[in-house]
This record gives sequence, structure tokens and C-alpha cells, in this order.
Amino acid sequence: MKTVILGTSGASVSQMGLGAMFMGTRTERTLSLALLDRYLAAGGSFIDTANIYAAWVSGFRGGESEELLGEWMRQRHNRSRLFLATKVGFGYPGVEQGLKAAQIEAECEKSLKRLAIDTIDLYYAHVDDRTTGQEESLEAFRRLVGSGKVRFVGASNFRAWRLAEAQGLARTWGGYCCVQQRHTYLRPRPGASFGPQISADDELLDYCRARGVTLLAYSPLLGGAYTRADRPLPEQYRGADSEERLARLAKLAREVGATENQVVLAWMMRSRPAVIPVMAASTVEQLTENLGALELALTPEEIEFLEVGPKEPSW
Ligand SMILES: NC(=O)c1ccc[n+]([C@@H]2O[C@H](COP(=O)([O-])OP(=O)(O)OC[C@H]3O[C@@H](n4cnc5c(N)ncnc54)[C@H](OP(=O)(O)O)[C@@H]3O)[C@@H](O)[C@H]2O)c1
Repeated sequence: MKTVILGTSGASVSQMGLGAMFMGTRTERTLSLALLDRYLAAGGSFIDTANIYAAWVSGFRGGESEELLGEWMRQRHNRSRLFLATKVGFGYPGVEQGLKAAQIEAECEKSLKRLAIDTIDLYYAHVDDRTTGQEESLEAFRRLVGSGKVRFVGASNFRAWRLAEAQGLARTWGGYCCVQQRHTYLRPRPGASFGPQISADDELLDYCRARGVTLLAYSPLLGGAYTRADRPLPEQYRGADSEERLARLAKLAREVGATENQVVLAWMMRSRPAVIPVMAASTVEQLTENLGALELALTPEEIEFLEVGPKEPSW
């Protein structure tokens, strides 16, 4: 798998990330380990988790995904080959939602312990906190970087202006090097809500492009909705151009002999601003299909064909 530079960090990371959200909970242990092994065998090393994964699955409390990753790294002795991302900010049993300095520092210690590692490669603010000054949160992240517990920090579920504001405050040390947002080929209807999840909008894409901030795209496959009859499209994606986009996606997939999932991932990896899809799978077959996108080199004409709607102005 090729590597790309992660935003303003300068670090090289895999061009496709693997989400570990349900590993150790909904996706049972042995299967989770097999998925991780399969991704690593394909040359991938960029793994995404969070302190809360997956507290909302019945019978679990959060932290299971990090623990499973810790177990896998212990068994395989592969820590040095990986680039591990985890997050802080959403509430889960015993922990309130927020980005106060004390929360960030305490949750970082817990994540390090569950993962059984000394340093987190990428530590995200998982959700914006409008009740805590950004100065306080950023200062806590800066201290974690200074102490060597964290290498780089990122933001997730932030509006573009909040990210730009944060970057102004963190000018001396770099601040958030990348942003993780909901993003796929279909575009949500203007004003559509995903609760606390924020979809990458035109403002954010423009900001990322202008400032060299990489976009990490979560839920890139819409949970399988592009190809599965049992998985309806989330209604937020029933926008003015969705039928046109779905038709173009299906046509191109047929022409290049790929699945729609593969075309979406391949399109993303050719996007500007730089986009790294963070996909997940719950079977080895799904993961193998998704990794197949790495072999799909879409031409500029094919990328152009997928563009629907008004083009970005050239500034
Ligand atoms: N920052 C945030 O707020 C945030 C939010 C959400 C996710 N994330 C991160 O992003 C990662 C990915 O998110 P996601 O799970 O929503 O992404 P996704 O890649 O859109 O969806 C993954 C799900 O889609 C189905 N799927 C995957 N490949 C398939 C294939 N080839 N054919 C058919 N179905 C397929 C599977 O569903 P089934 O399991 O039902 O089979 C799989 O679990 C997470 O693991 C997490 O690390 C971050």
C-alpha cells in the first residue's frame, strides 16, 4: 500500500486507514484479529480507534476496541510497524463529554494503558466542545505532545471556522494536523443533520485544500449502502444530485470492472484536498473487496465523469 503525507504533520501514513470501531464488541475477537492481520498483510498500518469504542453496543462499556488492539500488538509484536490513532471528547460511562484539559489528560492515560503503548501516533479531539475555550484544549494537547505521550493531534467533527480558529491559536506548534469528518461520494442535502457527526462541507474542503490539511473520511462506504439491498441509503443523502451520482457511480463501476465501493474509495484517494478513507469491514471478504480499490487507478477523465454539480471556483 502506498503512503501519503498526513496533512501538516510531515508523517507518512497508509493511503487507506482501517476503522476498528466495532472490533472487540460487535465484531468478535478472532474475526477482529483476522481483519487486522489482513489489513497489515496488504501493507496497511494506519488504524483508527477511540476511547469510547464501542460503549453503545449492548453489554459493553467502551474501551474494548483499544484493548483488542493492545492484545493484537502484544501477540504480533508489531507496534513499531503501525500508526495508531485514537480519540477523546465524547462521553461514555463514567466520563462526561468535553475537551477540558483534565479530561484530555486523564483519557490519554487510559488509552495508553488499554493500548499498552507509550505513545499515541495521532490523538484526535473527537468532537468540538463549545463550552471550553479552545486555548485550554489545545494547551492540553500541546503538553501531551511535549511529554512524548502523543506525536500528532487532529480534530474530528469540527466546523471549518472552528478549525481555522484553533489553528490560529496553535500557530507556534502546529495544532491539529488533519481533520476527520463524515465524507463519501454522495453529498448530504444542505442542512441535513447527523447529530454530533459533522459531514465535510464545501467550506471544510476548501479550508483543507488551501492549508494542506488532510481529510480523514469516516463512513466512506455508508455502511455498505452503495452495494447492499439490505442497507438503505441514509435519508440525509437523498439530495438533488444523488440519483445522478449513483447512476454515474454504477456506470463507471461497470466500465472499469470494479464494485461501487471500490470506485468510491479509489475516487477518494485521488481527491483534492488529500483524502484518506477510513473504512471498516466486518468480514474478511468485505475487507478484501475494499482493499481492491488500491489496484484501481482511475484516469483523470473517469474522475471528471464522477464530478456532478458546480465546480469549485479557481481563486
Ligand atoms: N470520528 C468519528 O466521529 C467517526 C464516526 C464513525 C466512524 N469513525 C471511524 O471510521 C471507521 C469507519 O466507519 P464506518 O464503519 O461508518 O465506515 P464504512 O466503511 O462506511 O462502513 C463499514 C461497514 O460497511 C459494511 N461494509 C464494508 N465493506 C463492505 C463491502 N465491501 N460490501 C458490503 N458491505 C460492506 C460493513 O457493515 P456490516 O458490519 O453491517 O456488515 C462494515 O462494518 C470506524 O471504524 C471508525 O474508526 C469515526
